[in-house]
Amino acid sequence: MADTDGLLEARDFTGPAATAGAFHVKGAQAQDWGLQNRLSRIFRRDTGRTVMLAFDHGYFLGPMAGLERLDTGIAPLVPDADAIMMTRGALRTSIPPHTDAGIVLRASGGPSVLRDLSDEHIALDIEDAVRLNAAALAIQVFIGSENESRSVRNLAALVDAGQRHGVAVLGVTAVGKDMVRDARYFRLATRISAEMGAHVVKTYYVEEGFETVTASCPVPIIVAGGKKLPELDALTMAHRSIQEGAAGVDMGRNIFQSEHPAAMLAAVRAVVHDDAKPEEAYELFRDRAAASA
Ligand code: 5RP
Repeated sequence: MADTDGLLEARDFTGPAATAGAFHVKGAQAQDWGLQNRLSRIFRRDTGRTVMLAFDHGYFLGPMAGLERLDTGIAPLVPDADAIMMTRGALRTSIPPHTDAGIVLRASGGPSVLRDLSDEHIALDIEDAVRLNAAALAIQVFIGSENESRSVRNLAALVDAGQRHGVAVLGVTAVGKDMVRDARYFRLATRISAEMGAHVVKTYYVEEGFETVTASCPVPIIVAGGKKLPELDALTMAHRSIQEGAAGVDMGRNIFQSEHPAAMLAAVRAVVHDDAKPEEAYELFRDRAAASA
């Protein structure tokens, strides 16, 4: 029999309605609860920023330097990342499922590095993404390249699927070999991705006018690290990106190709979440590297 005897009388109905306050991710105020919840797994509520560790490079490059072993080289870094970006194959085979990191799944593919990289297709079904508890799906957008139009259509199709299931989409600005990497190009490319419905856009940092790229994009911009740089230079780039309006980094090679990846990840966190100056973060990097030697 149901335990209905002696239930306490409900009586506390007073007080103003609790409000959640403004949502902390740019451009996502009008999204549904599930999508906002997933974005909150990527962007920390206290800073509104993210440190996303990217190791999806194998989807067209194979086992590049630093990614030879995902299980021993990358998995130990994951607890210190807010979000991780990889293929479903890397996730299922090499990342422990008890991770707290927001899952950002590479959702495009096709050509290897031996072919025209812009010749991509959607390479992931939304159903599998939901099964893997993805917070976001990442897709390359090739503005100005041979397959520009198809890549924009791929993005739009993924946004349609993402909106249906409450999964965010990260538009990845892919710069063709002949493209000039300047603020004008990145304003164009990032704005197109956002207008097509991407909830987050990844791009590269440029020294002149980067603040115009972040200002003109109505969703958060996160910055790729690009080729491996000396640690202080990479931290300087991350610092400038954040101070000029980026909402975080989506960094791969400058972390996993460092001699001390865990120390570098800690230093990047200090830049992104604590507004550490590059020299302070570099000091932290050196201390952590020395302690682990
Ligand atoms: C590969 C990617 C990478 O994830 C992205 O470029 C970040 O990695 P890195 O910091 O090494 O540039 O999208 O296509």
